[in-house]
Amino acid sequence: MEKKIRAKITGISSYVPDFILTNEELSKMVDTSDEWIMSHVGIKERHILKGPGKATSDMGAEAVKKLLKKTGTKPEEIDLLICGTVTPDMFFPATACLICGKTDIKNAFAFDTNSGCCGFIYTLSVGARYIESGRYKKVIIVGADMNSSMVDYTDRATSPLFGDAAGAVLLEPTTEELGVMDEQMGVDGSGWTHLHIKAGGSLMRHTHETIENNLGCIYMEGQSVFKWAVIKMADVAEEIIKRNGLDSKKVWLLPHQANLRIIDAVENRISFDKEKVLVNIEKYGNTSAATIPLVLSDFEHKFKKGDDLAFCSFGAGFSWGAIWLKWAY
Ligand code: UT7
Repeated sequence: MEKKIRAKITGISSYVPDFILTNEELSKMVDTSDEWIMSHVGIKERHILKGPGKATSDMGAEAVKKLLKKTGTKPEEIDLLICGTVTPDMFFPATACLICGKTDIKNAFAFDTNSGCCGFIYTLSVGARYIESGRYKKVIIVGADMNSSMVDYTDRATSPLFGDAAGAVLLEPTTEELGVMDEQMGVDGSGWTHLHIKAGGSLMRHTHETIENNLGCIYMEGQSVFKWAVIKMADVAEEIIKRNGLDSKKVWLLPHQANLRIIDAVENRISFDKEKVLVNIEKYGNTSAATIPLVLSDFEHKFKKGDDLAFCSFGAGFSWGAIWLKWAY
């Protein structure tokens, strides 16, 4: 019997812009404090992309260049690049195309996905299917968001939460029991009312009024999102662990980094080993599609071949999901 082809991660990289916005600096811009942000969210600072002509594709391209170098891969070997983002440089072309243009990737096709904070895991799921088909050998998954481009820096309810970053992984086929093993995803489309951007799309074109009222910025009802995030992230993480008979104490948990209190709630519900719940929200804030690759990148040195990793996320849509993956190197 032919062995099943799986998609394994063979390299990871990340990029954060140089400029750091600390809680102290933010407290001069809006009515907030380091004490409130640390106790309610767990963020100390976030990186912000600055400079004219800079956008999401620049961060994505930096992450991809690092990834190609680190894995010894030539740009022309890449078959497909998919970018998960909700902050594309422009409505079109896809940011994935712009990233290919900036990294000399010429033999690939490329497109974006739009899944908010589930951007990385949904895009990884799509990329894994291309590898599993047997037709594609080298697929790059990028998670990149320039959240500062849609944050209202006069709104204290959202401005402390978000940062800018990009991460990228290389997917390649394997017939070993490694790579993407199982996943559980879901959406509840009625949840959109709690987290969205009101203007700028086909529903509400921009006018002077929408600009004056900051309707092109993130609108979030924090408490509703919080409650759903705790329930759904814990549900999917538990489901993926139980149905595959995994020992939760041995699994590395890489949760989406939106709020330290959400992560703590997920950890308590499934009784993970605290040492194996990976957190870096303090340094970067919520970088949407980039949070999980940033965690992967920061803690890569801890993983050994065959280790069980569980990613879980929750975000706009509402959308949620978890992926179980066996580390391949
Ligand atoms: O990535 C997926 C999408 N996002 C999320 O998952 C985020 C989910 N939501 C959250 O993380 C939390 O709901 C927030 C961090 C957004 C807010 O935390 P909270 O504990 O739910 O605060 P709250 O909205 O209930 O506000 C509590 C108090 C209020 O004051 P009063 O009414 O009790 O006097 C707010 O006005 O905190 C006040 N507040 C602030 N105070 C200082 C809200 N934001 C701030 C702030 N600084 N930045």
